[in-house]
Amino acid sequence: MTREITLTRPDDWHLHVRDGAALETVVPHTAAQFARAIIMPNLKPPVTTAAQAVAYRDRIRSAVPAGMAFEPLMTLYLTDNLPPDEIRRAKEAGVVAVKLYPAGATTNSDAGVTDIRKTYATLEAMQREGILLLVHGEVTSPDIDLFDREAVFIEEQLMPLRRDFPELKVVMEHITTKEAAQYVASADRYLGATLTAHHLLYNRNAIFTGGIRPHYYCLPVLKRETHRVALVAAATSGNPKFFLGTDSAPHPAHLKEHATGCAGCYTAHAAMEMYAEAFDAVGALDKLEGFASFFGADFYGLPRNTGTITLRKESWTPPESFAFGEAELKPLRSGEALPWRLAV
Ligand code: NCD
Ligand code: ZN
Ligand code: ZN
Repeated sequence: MTREITLTRPDDWHLHVRDGAALETVVPHTAAQFARAIIMPNLKPPVTTAAQAVAYRDRIRSAVPAGMAFEPLMTLYLTDNLPPDEIRRAKEAGVVAVKLYPAGATTNSDAGVTDIRKTYATLEAMQREGILLLVHGEVTSPDIDLFDREAVFIEEQLMPLRRDFPELKVVMEHITTKEAAQYVASADRYLGATLTAHHLLYNRNAIFTGGIRPHYYCLPVLKRETHRVALVAAATSGNPKFFLGTDSAPHPAHLKEHATGCAGCYTAHAAMEMYAEAFDAVGALDKLEGFASFFGADFYGLPRNTGTITLRKESWTPPESFAFGEAELKPLRSGEALPWRLAV
C-alpha cells in the first residue's frame, strides 16, 4: 500500500478567494499547496476590466505569507457588454481567461451573460488573442430540472458556441455529470474540463445525510452516484483534457446555514488531501500528478512547475472553522478525520 507520494507542485485551475479580510484566511491555504491558481472574477461588483484584475492580483499577492511562492492567474468576468478592446488590454496585463456565468446561474452571477450572441465580438477577440473561455455550464431556466441543467447547457449552448469558435480554448469548469465527461472526452483539443475534489468524493446523498447539510451544497449541485463514478473515471483516466480545479468557494458560515443558503464548498484548507483520498480509493494515485500538476498547465500553454509536494497517509482532523473577516468559515469535512496529509 502506498503510504507517501511526491508530486510536482500542483496548480488549482478554478479558485474563489473573495476579497478584503477573507484573503488573509484563504490565500495562505492555497499557497501552501499550489504554485498557481486561476482566480475567479465573481466579486461584487465583478472584475470586468484589465485594471481591476491587476489591482485584485496585487491584493491577493499581498496576502501570500512571506517565504511562500504563489502566483494568482487572473480572469475577467464576461458580461453582455464586455468590449472586445478590453481583451487586448487584458492580454497585455497578463490576464489568461474570461469567465462565462449565465446570468443567475450561481453565486454573484447577476451581471452574467443573458444571451451568448451578445458576446460574439468579444469571443472573437479572445480566440484571436489566445485568451481562454472558462464556463459555468448550466442553463438557468426554471423549467429545466436542477439536476439536468449541465447536460442541457452542453446541447443548447456549448455545442453551438464551439461550432462558431472552433479555435477558442474552452474549459468546462467543475463538471458534475457523465454527459459532460463524455462530451469533453470526445471533443477536440480546444476543450478541457476541471473537476473538484468534492464532486469526486460525494454524491447528492451527502447533502441530505441525517438532515440537510448546507456545507455540501454547491453549484452545479452534487449528482447521483453513477455520475460521481464517471467523474472519477475521467479524472483518473490519464486523459490530459481533465485537470484539477477545486472550485473552493468560501462563504460565511451563517450565510450557508440559512433559509436560502449560499452555494459553494470550501476545500482549499485540504484540497490535495481530498484529491489523494479520491484517487487512492480507486487505486489510481499514480495518475494524480498528471491531473494535478501537468495537464492544466499544458492546456493553458503555461510552463509546468518545478518543485514538489509530498502527501502522506496519516490521519488528521482539520479545524471546525476558520476566522473569515468578522465571520466564521466552515471548511468541508470540518472536524472530520482525513486519511491523507500534506507533509510540511
Ligand atoms: C461559487 C461561488 O461561491 O462563488 N459557488 C459554487 O457553488 N460553486 C460559484 C461557482 O463556481 O459557480
Ligand atoms: Zn461555477
Ligand atoms: Zn467556482
